[in-house]
Amino acid sequence: MSTLPLNKFADIETPFYYYDVALLKETLECAQSEAAKHDDYHIHYAIKANFNARLLKIISEAGIGADCVSGGEVKAALSAGIAPENIVFAGVGKTEKELRLSLEAGIFCFNAESLPEVELINELAAEYNTTARIAIRVNPGVGAHTHANITTGLAENKFGINYELLEETIGCIKELKNVELIGLHFHIGSQILEMDDFATLCNRINEIQDTLEKNLGLVLPHINVGGGLGIDYMQPTANPVPDFASYFATYAKNLKRRPGQQVHFELGRSLVGQCGTLVSRVTYVKRGTCKQFAIIDAGMNDLVRPALYQAYHEIENLSSQDAKEAYDIVGPICESSDVFAKDRELALTKRGDILAIRSAGAYGEAMAFGYNCRELPKAYLSTDFQ
Ligand code: LLP
Repeated sequence: MSTLPLNKFADIETPFYYYDVALLKETLECAQSEAAKHDDYHIHYAIKANFNARLLKIISEAGIGADCVSGGEVKAALSAGIAPENIVFAGVGKTEKELRLSLEAGIFCFNAESLPEVELINELAAEYNTTARIAIRVNPGVGAHTHANITTGLAENKFGINYELLEETIGCIKELKNVELIGLHFHIGSQILEMDDFATLCNRINEIQDTLEKNLGLVLPHINVGGGLGIDYMQPTANPVPDFASYFATYAKNLKRRPGQQVHFELGRSLVGQCGTLVSRVTYVKRGTCKQFAIIDAGMNDLVRPALYQAYHEIENLSSQDAKEAYDIVGPICESSDVFAKDRELALTKRGDILAIRSAGAYGEAMAFGYNCRELPKAYLSTDFQ
């Protein structure tokens, strides 16, 4: 059972996101201190996981950089006080407007995903009389043990430049005067719990580095391995902080670094996932012919992960200690996929009870939308209640 302050939620309109600031800080500290055990490991928070401005401020204060995938995210990172030299910008479809604002801000590096993109960056950088630092995002052809919708490192995915075209692409980039190639960027997917997947990525990076050195005499100063470390959705209370020690140790053991080479990580879910809870009230309990439904006031528009990826989130009834019964926990949206859980055991549930949907800090509030003219969910920090 979680230790959420039910007594403080009584008068608050639901649904809302609740963020445990102490847990967030503990998680950030753990990630930073485990990374610091290895020379030149740098963490960039993947803002896409949660761009709540108050959380970003805390993350920025912890000295973590930012990984952005849109101009809006670059702006959010800058407003949170993240220094431009700690910002990287990825994405297959960066627009001219987004590139301009990032060049004007002087961000650290563009993770470029195609030659036409590099050519546009070069053209714009020339206009600003500057040289833009770029890393090539390489599609490594490495799968990961996770949901098909969130793997990114396979040839069939739209991301990055295929490694077979890498040398040719580098040849073209060398001709461009206003871009400086400083690194290689990778990302194989998200919610990865098997460290072997990261080890496989390391082996692939080793091969690619060896080939580039042998064929082109090229050694680059930065390797960005992306993000992807998963969290324990099944047992958020028992495992609130992900295993950063094993994660970084896997890279330390398997990645063959060149002298002075920096390693960059883009962690999203693992930094913010467990500190967030979606709090919702039960609107009705309805008996069907063969099951009962707990209809709650949060919908798939507030937390889309169960509908989109059949994702599991722990759900607790904070208002009841009674014996458990099975419910389908559903939202009010006019879509059959608006289901948070099927046949889930909950303490005997009645109208007005408060439910906590756990592990919702990553890709929860950030992916909320306004379908059915619904308001976007509000968000509170634990510090608001002190
Ligand atoms: N770097 C790149 C290039 C990425 O595409 C992503 C996530 C990350 C870093 C951060 O990955 P993380 O550490 O959070 O796993 N909405 C989905 C997840 C989509 C992930 C997209 N890319 C979900 O709710 O599971």
